[in-house]
Amino acid sequence: MDYFLELKQKIETRQAVVAVVGLGYVGLPLAIEKARAGYRVLGFDIQQKRVDMVNRGENYIGDVVDSDLHEFVQKELLKAASDYSGIAQADCVTICVPTPLDAFQQPDISCVRNSCIAVAQYAHPGMLIVLESTSYPGTTEEVMQPVFQEKGFTIGKDLFLAFSPERVDPGNRQYNLRNTPKVVSGVTPACLELAALLYKNVLESEPFRVSSPKVAEMEKIYENTFRNINIALANEMAVLCRRMGIDVWEVIEAAKTKPYGFMAFYPGPGLGGHCIPIDPYYLVWKAKEYHCRTRLIETAGEINDQMPEHVVGQAAELLNRDKKSLNGASVLLLGVSYKKDTDDIRESPALRIWKLLKQESAEVSYLDPFVPSLTLDGEVYESKSMEDVPDADLCIITTDHSQFDAQAIADHSRLVLDTRNLTKGMHRDHIFRI
Ligand SMILES: NC(=O)c1ccc[n+]([C@@H]2O[C@H](COP(=O)([O-])OP(=O)(O)OC[C@H]3O[C@@H](n4cnc5c(N)ncnc54)[C@H](O)[C@@H]3O)[C@@H](O)[C@H]2O)c1
Repeated sequence: MDYFLELKQKIETRQAVVAVVGLGYVGLPLAIEKARAGYRVLGFDIQQKRVDMVNRGENYIGDVVDSDLHEFVQKELLKAASDYSGIAQADCVTICVPTPLDAFQQPDISCVRNSCIAVAQYAHPGMLIVLESTSYPGTTEEVMQPVFQEKGFTIGKDLFLAFSPERVDPGNRQYNLRNTPKVVSGVTPACLELAALLYKNVLESEPFRVSSPKVAEMEKIYENTFRNINIALANEMAVLCRRMGIDVWEVIEAAKTKPYGFMAFYPGPGLGGHCIPIDPYYLVWKAKEYHCRTRLIETAGEINDQMPEHVVGQAAELLNRDKKSLNGASVLLLGVSYKKDTDDIRESPALRIWKLLKQESAEVSYLDPFVPSLTLDGEVYESKSMEDVPDADLCIITTDHSQFDAQAIADHSRLVLDTRNLTKGMHRDHIFRI
């Protein structure tokens, strides 16, 4: 039997059953788009709560439109499970599980490995498996491929293995999963062909094909390292500009007028989320295998990592000017998610700042329309409201959510430290920017 031709036809005619493993920020929107493209989708997640929510049509990811999820579940185009046995019904599987760092800042690919082992248990000939999780170059061929070969499959003949990095940008209203170009690779030409066909049917444009999974894995980390390093440069400029009494935001606005050779990146309270602070370390770790030092990446990481301390240092200086100290001061953090217009608090610099402030005995609270409550060091906190702004000795703008009214914050606060330039252009005695 020609498994390639059979699967190609199933993908082309939308007869293929598509599985998505890991229903988080990447997986759930992807599952929705595959259902929209006309495929029957099976979602898998180890969190039973998420599985139950999906099956009730209840959304928990900001970028997913509630009515879309509801509609596809109602039409039985999307169904979720925590038990992997349903994988046996799938023709294509996309893996979107987390790739964090361990306690020693080294890649933790246990979720990728575990999900591959679970999928392999129910894999059958004529199956396409695509990894979308971000990882170091070599993951698809060195980690995934052996798991399926040990089960007796021949890659490119009876089982097809591919890597296609995800570029979803939570909260971005202009670019979504469908209209963002996608890079696709395969272990063999047949694997590439099938993966490219699947994405072509789901996205608005033809995917960009590269010659190997290693290239695709590296290009994803290059994208995020590029961002990490440029943010580090903006942060370094911010620290220097403050010492020199220069407004770094005005400097960037001016530099931006150059129509070529400059791309604006902005300073901030530090990096957050599941990508930019983490992915470069995957490369730093892998580079060591080749006796390569990635000094620029490591230095950028150090600079970005110092930003929460820098913010807290500036907060102490500002209170000091008013003859107050951090000890006992009430500090309101405006925004705890790592970026604007999302509820994602993973690795959020606001939480690092919170902990540092607490170490200095400040009384910390927060206001975030996207995060009604959160647990920090075992304690549960609830978001304050704008009415609480006047009571705070210091408001630190840690996230520039579109819902935040900069004028209202300026009018009703006693002292503001703005780490995001939300108060752009305002010249008031009690407003300071990093
Ligand atoms: N969030 C982003 O903006 C973004 C963007 C591009 C790429 N990525 C990459 O995509 C991957 C997934 O990120 P995410 O943000 O969606 O993570 P997430 O934590 O939001 O979702 C991952 C989901 O996978 C589930 N999971 C973990 N192990 C599993 C297993 N063995 N089997 C089934 N489900 C399992 C988790 O319960 C969770 O629901 C990561 O590699 C990340 O770097 C994320």
